[in-house]
Amino acid sequence: MIPDNVVEEVRARADIVGIIGEFVQLKRAGKDFRGLSPFKQEKTPSFFVIPAKAFFHDFSSGESGDVFSFLMKHQGMSFVDAVKYVGARSGIEVREVRRGRKGEDPRRPYYEASAHAGAFFRERLWDWEGGAAAREYLKGRGIDREIGERFGLGYAPDDWGALRDAASARGISEGILLELGLLKKSERRDRPYDAFRNRIIFPIESVSRRVLAFGGRLLGPEGKGAPKYLNSPESPIFHKGEILYGLSWAGNHIRRQGAALLVEGFMDALSLAAVGIRHAVAPLGTALTDAHARLLERYTKQVRILFDNDPAGQRATFRAADVLLAQGVHASVVTLPEGEDPDSVALSGGADAIRALVRDAVDVLDRKIAILEEHDYFSSIERTRKALDRLLPTLRAVTDPSLRDIYLSRVARHTGVQRETLEADLRDSSAPARIPGAATPARTRRPAPRFHGLGPDRALILFLLKHRDWVERAGERLGPSDLEEGSYRVIFEELIDNPELTALPEGAAPEAHRSFEDLMGEREVPPDGVFGDVVLRIENRTRDRRRVALHRELRGAREQEEKHRLVKDIQALNREERALGTDWRRSARWFAGTSRQMGELAP
Ligand code: GTP
Ligand code: MN
Repeated sequence: MIPDNVVEEVRARADIVGIIGEFVQLKRAGKDFRGLSPFKQEKTPSFFVIPAKAFFHDFSSGESGDVFSFLMKHQGMSFVDAVKYVGARSGIEVREVRRGRKGEDPRRPYYEASAHAGAFFRERLWDWEGGAAAREYLKGRGIDREIGERFGLGYAPDDWGALRDAASARGISEGILLELGLLKKSERRDRPYDAFRNRIIFPIESVSRRVLAFGGRLLGPEGKGAPKYLNSPESPIFHKGEILYGLSWAGNHIRRQGAALLVEGFMDALSLAAVGIRHAVAPLGTALTDAHARLLERYTKQVRILFDNDPAGQRATFRAADVLLAQGVHASVVTLPEGEDPDSVALSGGADAIRALVRDAVDVLDRKIAILEEHDYFSSIERTRKALDRLLPTLRAVTDPSLRDIYLSRVARHTGVQRETLEADLRDSSAPARIPGAATPARTRRPAPRFHGLGPDRALILFLLKHRDWVERAGERLGPSDLEEGSYRVIFEELIDNPELTALPEGAAPEAHRSFEDLMGEREVPPDGVFGDVVLRIENRTRDRRRVALHRELRGAREQEEKHRLVKDIQALNREERALGTDWRRSARWFAGTSRQMGELAP
C-alpha cells in the first residue's frame, strides 16, 4: 500500500491540468479548463477541469473525480499505479510500503485525535453558550462566523479538563493527546490537563487539509505569564519548520496569482483571507526555514514579504528573503506603515489598502540598498565597506542566474566596487570584500558551507542513502550519538548495520519512518564533496558540546585533582581542534578535496 499522507501529498501537488492535458486537449475557460469529453463522443466541449478544486467534471458522461480517478477511468490504471504515475510527474517518489500488522498508517491515531480535537474546539466556539466571549472577540477583529467556519476556528474553554473529558468519552487515548501536546502533565496534578485553555484556536493543516496541530490565542491581552500565542509542540505528525499556516487553503490561490504573500502571524493570514486576499501564508512563529522555502517554491517563484516594519521585522524580512533566494524564489518586500501589520491594515483599509501596498513591493536587494542609502551608507569608504557586508549575504544567497547577474550590477553600481571583484569575492566568499583604501577587517568565522541548507544530520543521512559505498567510512568517523536528531540516529544505526537497507524495521518510531521515506524520495543526489564537509560539521558540533559539558563540570568541581583532570581534557580538545587547523575553511576544503578523490576511486 501507499501511505495515506503520500497519496494526499501527491494529490495536493499534482498539476491536474497538465496531467489530464496529456490525454485531453484543454482550453482555458476563465479559471477553469475545458475540452471534448474523453468518455463520450461529443461536438461541444463539456468536459471541465477545475484546478482550484483539483477536480474534473464531465457533463456529458457524468464522470467526475480527482486526478487519480481520471487516470483510473480513462487509462484503466489501478489506484496504486495512478498515484505512482502522478507522483512521478510531480517529483514525488511513491513507493509501496509494508505497514503494521493491520496495514495501518501508524500516524492514523494522531490524525484522528487531532481531527477530533478540532471538531471539539469548533463546537465550543459556535454552538456553546460559554463560547459567547470568544465569538465577540472574533467579531471585534472582523472575523464573522462564515469566515471563522471556513478556516476551522475554534475555542478552547477556560477549563482544565474539557477536551480531556470529551476525548476520553470518545475513547481517544490520553497518550496520543499527550504526544500531540493537547494534554500536559504536571507534578502538581494527578491527571493530565488541557494545554489550550481560554484561547481562540487556529487549526494548522497539511496541504491536504488534515489537522496536524493547533495555534491558540488568548482572548484579550497577555497576562499572568501566559503567552499570547501558544502552538502545539513538535509531534509525530507536526514539524513546524515544514508547515506554513494557511497553505492548505492558499495553495491554489498562490498558483493562480503567480505569487504568495508571506505574513508573520495567524491573524494576518486570516484577516487577509477575510477581505478576499487568499494567497497569504505564515510561518508558525519561527524564522522561515529552507523547508518552508522549498515548499513555497512548488507553488510560485514570487514571494512578497509583509512583516512588521520595525528593526526586528526588517531583520526577519531579510533573513527570510535570503532563504527564499537560495531556493530560487524571488523575494520582494512590502513596506507597511509603521506600527501596522497586515491584519490592522486589512481591518482599517480593506483589500484595497493591502493591494495598494503590495503593488509597491520592492525587490529585496533594492530595499536593502534603499535602507542603506537612507542611513547614508554610501558616503564614505568605511561605511561603504559595511554596506557591502550587508549586501553580500543576499548576493551569496541568490541562485537564479539572471537575477544574480542583475544583483551584481546593481551592487557594483552602488558601492563602486567592480563587478569582477565582487564575483571573485563571492567565489571565495570567505575573503573580505576589497575596497581600495579600506582597512582589512578581522576575519570572521565563516558559517559552515551548506548543502541546500540542510542540517548536518539530515545532509549526512541523505548523502549516505544516495552513496551507500560511503557508509562504512562514515561509521569509522562518527557514532550514532554524534547525531542530534533521534530519527537520523536510528537511520544511521540501521545503515551501519546494513548499508543496503531499503526500509526501516517496523518497530522504528514513526518519525524515523517518515524521515527515511522522505529522504529516500529526495531526488537530489548530493555531490561527493559534501561528505567531508558534513562529517566535519558534525565532529565540530560534538567537540563543542563536549567542551561545554567539561566547562560545566569544571565549575561544579570541588576536588583539586578532578579540576586538574578536567582542565587537561579541555586542553586536549583545544589541541585536537588546532591540529585540524584553526582555519576551518581550509580543512573543509581539504576534506572536500579528499572526498572528491575518494569518490573517484570508489567503485
Ligand atoms: P495579534 O496580537 O493577535 O494581532 O497577533 P499578531 O499576529 O499581530 O502578533 P505578533 O505580531 O505579536 O506575532 C506574530 C506571530 O508570532 C503570531 O502569529 C505567532 O505565531 C507568533 N507569536 C506571537 N506571540 C507569541 C507568543 O507569545 N508565543 C508564541 N509561541 N508565538 C507567538
Ligand atoms: Mn496583529
